Amino acid sequence: MSILEIKKGIYNVGVEDWNLRNFHGYSTSRGTSYNAYLIIDDKITLIDTVKKHFSEELLKNISEIVDPEKIDYIISNHVEMDHSGAIPCLAEKAKNAIIVTSDPNGIKGLEAHYGKKLNYMVVKSGEELTIGKRKLVFVATPMVHWPDNMVTYCPEEKILFSNDAFGQHYASNLKMDYENNLEVIYEEAKKYYTNIVMPYGMQTRKALEIVKSLDIDIIAPSHGVIWKENIKGILEKYEYFSNDIPEEEAVIVYDSMWNSTKKMAFSILDAFTKKRIKTYIFDLKVNDISDIMVKVLKAKYIIVGSPTLNNNMLPTVAALLTYMRGLAPKNKKALAFGSFGWGGQSIGQVNEELKKCNMEIMADPIKIQYIPTKEQLEEIEKTIQSLI
Ligand SMILES: [Fe+2]
Ligand SMILES: [Fe+2]
Repeated sequence: MSILEIKKGIYNVGVEDWNLRNFHGYSTSRGTSYNAYLIIDDKITLIDTVKKHFSEELLKNISEIVDPEKIDYIISNHVEMDHSGAIPCLAEKAKNAIIVTSDPNGIKGLEAHYGKKLNYMVVKSGEELTIGKRKLVFVATPMVHWPDNMVTYCPEEKILFSNDAFGQHYASNLKMDYENNLEVIYEEAKKYYTNIVMPYGMQTRKALEIVKSLDIDIIAPSHGVIWKENIKGILEKYEYFSNDIPEEEAVIVYDSMWNSTKKMAFSILDAFTKKRIKTYIFDLKVNDISDIMVKVLKAKYIIVGSPTLNNNMLPTVAALLTYMRGLAPKNKKALAFGSFGWGGQSIGQVNEELKKCNMEIMADPIKIQYIPTKEQLEEIEKTIQSLI
């Protein structure tokens, strides 16, 4: 792949992971990229690396600009292995390179992953490093997305190397925002925010305040496209994603064995439709939980249904609820429903899990034994209408 010079002497030397379809459980239908940025100055500096198995490709890309042995600094904005995996390989080549990481969590993480023998240097939030004509300023952004995270700002070039923040799992040979379909990259940025950053909305809002105080020409994240013409747009999107204010929208998620829970789900959908509330309905057999969560992000109502199988909810529903609890969406109203043959434990279990997600329970769970009758389905619709 040809190397992109994003500003004079600053290159993206990262790699595109075209065929990745699952990033630790997150479905990545458009692949991803691991962006790494090479700055040619008195001190040759690399910002972030790539996954370990792309180390050779990274070295090849760097070699098109400069001999990798000449690298003086490797800035590690984030310990997670999609960005640090090639550090040992690079350190092997660039024997004198200093690996710059945050204090205390960056160094702790890198030592745990790669041992204590590498040439580390720790920096605190606000510290600067002069690399020649340019300097780099490090700003801690803890929990966006791990405790160690920092971003690197180059004031002379007005570039923010933002690591995971503002990233998208999106592979493209054209790396600038304006070279891609804006709707698609915003959609991927939203999916990325939802599935990676959502639990840390408060920290994101703090990081946004810092970012807004900087003079920025380019935001260069570690995944997806580089923001240049739509910086205002992506910052506004992040403010919207992270404000925890729900829209008047609903998400109905269910799995079904013999269609009874499915029938109930569609009666609930009818109730929302009659109230003219935008609603998304997902059958867990055919929908990926990372896609469902994108709709959960801004929805006010979260309605979850499961029949009872061997005294439990269906495993698909349990997976969704576990995943959702981890992502900790805020300010939601929730309701459990489902059909059953004899035990009926699943519906109460779903209700309990929704409580653990810190959602406000709208009403007692709705349970139907065996097959819902037409009258029962009408009753469900009425009940839901009375609750919204
Ligand atoms: Fe990460
Ligand atoms: Fe990442």
